[in-house]
Amino acid sequence: MYNTLLALHSLTRWLVLGSLIFALFRAYRGWLLKKQFLKTDSVSRMVAASAAHVQLVFGLWLYFISPIVAYFLHNFHTAMHERAIRFFGMEHVTMMLIAITIITIGAAKAKRKPTDKEKFKTMAIWFTIGLLIILSSVPWSFSPLISRPNFRPL
Ligand code: HEM
Repeated sequence: MYNTLLALHSLTRWLVLGSLIFALFRAYRGWLLKKQFLKTDSVSRMVAASAAHVQLVFGLWLYFISPIVAYFLHNFHTAMHERAIRFFGMEHVTMMLIAITIITIGAAKAKRKPTDKEKFKTMAIWFTIGLLIILSSVPWSFSPLISRPNFRPL
C-alpha cells in the first residue's frame, strides 16, 4: 500500500504541474492578449485545482502511513536535525498545503470575477504563486538536498 501510494503521489505531481502550466498559459494569453474567457479556460482552471486536490488527498494519506513521517513524529527533537526526515515530516507538507490553498482560493476568486480580464488576471497571479511554491518544494531528482526519482514505477 505504502509503495503504491508513494508511486501515485510521485506520478500525480506531473498531472499537477502540467495542468497548472496549461492553465497559466491560458491565463496569461487571455489577460495580455485581451481574449474572451472561454469554456477551455474554465475547464483548465477546474482541472488544475482538481489535480491539486487529488494530490492533497494522496499526500495526506501518505503522511499517515509513511515510515519517514512516523520516525519524524516519534523522534521529533532528533529528527529536526536530519534534513531528509525534517523535509518530509514538516517542510514539504507545510509548503504544499500553502500552495494548494492558494490555488484553491485563486480558482474560486477567478470564477466569481465579473469580467474576462479579471478572471484571467486572478488566475494568472494566484496560480503563478502556487506553482512557484510547488516547484520549490518538490524533491527533484537533481536536487542536491532532497532527491527522489522523477518517475517511480507502480
Ligand atoms: C502539489 C502538491 C504536491 C506535490 C507536487 C508533491 C510531490 C511529492 C513528491 C515528488 C514526492 C516524492 C515521492 C517519491 O519518493 O517518489 C513526495 C513525497 C511525499 N509527500 Fe508530497 N507532494 C505534494 C503535496 C503533498 C501534501 C499536501 C502532503 C501531505 C499533506 C504530502 C506528503 C508527502 C509525504 C509524506 C511524502 C514522503 C513519503 C515518504 O517518502 O515516506 N505531499 N511528494
